[in-house]
Amino acid sequence: MYRDRQCGELRKKDVKSTVTLAGWVHRRRDHGGLIFIDLRDRSGLAQVVFDQNNKELHQQAEKLRSEYVISVKGEVIERSKETVNKNMPTGEIEVRASELQILNTSKTPPIEVADPTNEPDETIRLKYRYIDLRKDKMRENLIFRHRVTKAISDVLDQEGFLEIETPFLTKSTPEGARDFLVPSRVNPGKFYALPQSPQLFKQILMVAGMEKYYQVVRCFRDEDLRADRQPEFTQVDIEMSFCNEGDVINMIERVMTHTMAALEKDIDLYRGKHIPKIKTPFPRLTWKDAIRRYGCDKPDTRFGLELIELSDLVKDVEFKVFKETVAKGGIVKGINVKGGARFSRAELDNLEDLAKKLGAKGMAWVALTESGMKSPIVKFFKVEEMNAIVDLMKGEKGDVLLFVADKPKIVNQVLGQVRLELGRKLGLIDNNRFDFIWVTDFPLFEYSDTEKRWVSHHHPFTAPHSSWDDIEERFMKEPGKVKAQAYDFVLNGNEIGGGSIRIHRMDIQRKIFKILGFEEAEAKRRFGFLLEALECGAPPHGGIALGLDRLVAILAGMESIRDVIAFPKTQSALCPLSGAPDVVDNKQLEELHVKTVV
Ligand code: AMO
Ligand code: AMP
Repeated sequence: MYRDRQCGELRKKDVKSTVTLAGWVHRRRDHGGLIFIDLRDRSGLAQVVFDQNNKELHQQAEKLRSEYVISVKGEVIERSKETVNKNMPTGEIEVRASELQILNTSKTPPIEVADPTNEPDETIRLKYRYIDLRKDKMRENLIFRHRVTKAISDVLDQEGFLEIETPFLTKSTPEGARDFLVPSRVNPGKFYALPQSPQLFKQILMVAGMEKYYQVVRCFRDEDLRADRQPEFTQVDIEMSFCNEGDVINMIERVMTHTMAALEKDIDLYRGKHIPKIKTPFPRLTWKDAIRRYGCDKPDTRFGLELIELSDLVKDVEFKVFKETVAKGGIVKGINVKGGARFSRAELDNLEDLAKKLGAKGMAWVALTESGMKSPIVKFFKVEEMNAIVDLMKGEKGDVLLFVADKPKIVNQVLGQVRLELGRKLGLIDNNRFDFIWVTDFPLFEYSDTEKRWVSHHHPFTAPHSSWDDIEERFMKEPGKVKAQAYDFVLNGNEIGGGSIRIHRMDIQRKIFKILGFEEAEAKRRFGFLLEALECGAPPHGGIALGLDRLVAILAGMESIRDVIAFPKTQSALCPLSGAPDVVDNKQLEELHVKTVV
């Protein structure tokens, strides 16, 4: 028998019992006569003592080094008052060893498990992930991830959803990224695509009468990586029949309420304080309002600093930059930074540099100081013009007003980012707050400057708002104004989910393809299997996918989703542990009918 108890569960009530523990040597302190071992298993640490009265045992314990794997038998004893360790859940007891078995030795590990400050660079952490994952934080993160997944699965099960698997070796799904391709050996010259999401299959499951589907599923997207993006990541993918937008949104609100309640203790532990219960319904913002007020479609609503539209007010002012921008169809917006008048010139210059890096031509500012307005642009305005701007922006002494004039896209993008930077800089962001919101009424189409044509904002299976039958006329009239029955789920400024009601009628789907410029043959080749299914009694349906990695990372307060994934890839899409991707034998390539050109 290796063990009968777990290290981390021992308490005062276990005193006098004999236990057998197994785990890793976390720390070893040799006090001559006494050797102390902090023994670690998944549940935590327990202190084991070897005293020299048992000479043979003591000698054996002298051999122990960090990360050796051992099994120890001994009696649980109460620690004396002065040796109680309040920082350890098991700090009131220790185990006096009577037997020791060394199950395995260990090389000196490249990462010091017992030292939380020892964080080597990420490549080392990922190469020796099995050591990295032994650290408290990483172990807690994986346990927490399991609990989040379990809580979500439990509530979906209660709601009547079935977990159904869909293929990984499949055809391309249009989610906007590049595909990972897998050559087929038995079908020369043909390739499978790994799914960017199970989108097409989950819709087909609705046609198949499954009514409520979910899957905790890996998705593959070959796109540029960032802290919140991995080439393979996990979605909680959901689809339901006979539903409208409100049904999907209400269902997710129930899922989140249950999940947050189930994880209350874990989250409080992570945060070191009690986090108030979330309240539903979550606020809903239309896409238009999100852009207008925050400059982006995934606003962080934990703080203000909203963008203020000034175009109308400044269209006739003397300051040419503003006037001419509006005349050319651009816009002018501003932010009132409360208390920002104390920013130094250098701080304001840094903010303007940031704005320029993000694509602005400049960022004008007006500081409302005790001794009047300070600004490089006030001189270009009539007094009453500037006063009107200050009034509209509710400027008071001590504030600084920031302005950007440009095309709407640039103004919103720049001020949206400047706003976030200011939120961080001014400490306005409460990291212990969870602001879940819905962004709704997305445009169905957006103009792609690179492709010079209208493309789907979400994916081409998304249903339009209002009547479907006149979709072509509505598109012809004002393509940018056609709204989609699509919604994004946002948490603290991160997109943690997105979905839509789908088009279940083939005649409408055909019209959308036509609008998007898909040739009938091309549409058939790419997603003919879905289109055929839509012609065989497809029920009205819709759904959503939650980005599980992002959700877990934010709840746990981690900077990057890599901290909540057991084996993530680096920024350059490498796996330092396994060495993937790697070259393969010519023989294997030949069998796959593939030639490389590098
Ligand atoms: P979407 O493309 O919005 O929707 O993806 C859903 C959610 O998945 C997460 N996500 C990612 N997480 C980590 N790394 C990535 N590379 C990555 N890409 C996306 C985000 C995102 O909100 N089929 C639709 C869903 C639907 O319509 O039902 C879809 O995949 O949190
Ligand atoms: P200039 O006349 O280019 O020297 O600009 C005068 C002021 O207007 C400077 O403070 C610039 O930062 C600012 N400015 C220039 N272009 C813009 C713009 N597109 N939006 C906002 N401010 C601008």
